[in-house]
Amino acid sequence: MRILVTGGAGYVGSVSVEHLAAAGHDVVVLDSYATARPGANLAGAAVVEGTYTDRAAVAALLREQRIDAVLHCGARSLVGESIREPALYFRENVAGGIALLEAMRDAGVERLVISSTAAVYGVPASTPIPEDAPLRPINPYGESKRSLEATADWFAVAYGLRAVSLRYFNVAGAGPTNGERHEPETHLIPNAIRAAAGGPPLTVFGSDYPTPDGTPIRDYVHVLDLAEAHRLALEATAPGDARSGGHLLACNLGSGVGYSVRQVLVEAERVIGRPIPQTAGQRRAGDPPTLVADITRARDALGWGPARSSLEEMIGSAWAWWSAGRE
Ligand SMILES: NC(=O)c1ccc[n+]([C@@H]2O[C@H](COP(=O)([O-])OP(=O)(O)OC[C@H]3O[C@@H](n4cnc5c(N)ncnc54)[C@H](O)[C@@H]3O)[C@@H](O)[C@H]2O)c1
Repeated sequence: MRILVTGGAGYVGSVSVEHLAAAGHDVVVLDSYATARPGANLAGAAVVEGTYTDRAAVAALLREQRIDAVLHCGARSLVGESIREPALYFRENVAGGIALLEAMRDAGVERLVISSTAAVYGVPASTPIPEDAPLRPINPYGESKRSLEATADWFAVAYGLRAVSLRYFNVAGAGPTNGERHEPETHLIPNAIRAAAGGPPLTVFGSDYPTPDGTPIRDYVHVLDLAEAHRLALEATAPGDARSGGHLLACNLGSGVGYSVRQVLVEAERVIGRPIPQTAGQRRAGDPPTLVADITRARDALGWGPARSSLEEMIGSAWAWWSAGRE
């Protein structure tokens, strides 16, 4: 398959590019380098610098490269930034996403996999969260992804788009040569690693949640498990495949197990073999106590399961990548 990966120079994108190329697919990366890692290893792919928001340029690229399917990882994805700058999030993630979908129509490309997020659920009434739980995002980032999903769903109904949306919970870990380094970094495991390696102490945001140890519980999924889900979801968009077409297929991707911030830090100190300096902070607005995925649908519809998503493997691979001095 010839696959265009938007945002392919970012964290999730670069690991997926490596995985798809290793599985024998031809990969073209389209990245604006807005938040990319400059040192991403994209050796197995052709790389085009540009934005997915440019309908005419993307349609031309899809035609020139004879693309069969698009994996849309490109996005703005910082919750705090989205609250301060909603215009950026709706312009890029929603208006830009529509430009991408229209470019696909223009070029006759019907197969799409979207990087979505658990943020579409907002504060769930209960967990584990199934896909048919109400979508009530509480920030512009989550709202922008809900809007993109809704657009893709109606494109599926009206124009025959074959689309799968993957709602990631907390992505962690590293692939063989690509890993996670965001600026600013808002994720727990890379910040724990930075603190262990002599960086600023880690801030634990709130310890009075209604959870056994008072810190929030989250569901972590290995980025390589995600990459495999991308491969399976792209296959599920094949013409005639009953799993896609007619409507968007939305699947949660998590491990199905929750760990508290405190549990992650205890395991990180064990795996890394160093203390993680910590300070206590206030709760962050909009952080629900517990977010855990119901992953039944991804298992049933995609034949996917989390094979590498133990805390030990996620923290260990992230630490190995960091220690190897990768950029
Ligand atoms: N990392 C997580 O825990 C997580 C969780 C849920 C969902 N997601 C989603 O997964 C996707 C990837 O996340 P990530 O953590 O790898 O983020 P990232 O910031 O590392 O990667 C995003 C990539 O998209 C590129 N990009 C942004 N705007 C673009 C544009 N207009 N045109 C082309 N490229 C553009 C950036 O330069 C970057 O390389 C995003 O859609 C995000 O919303 C991530």
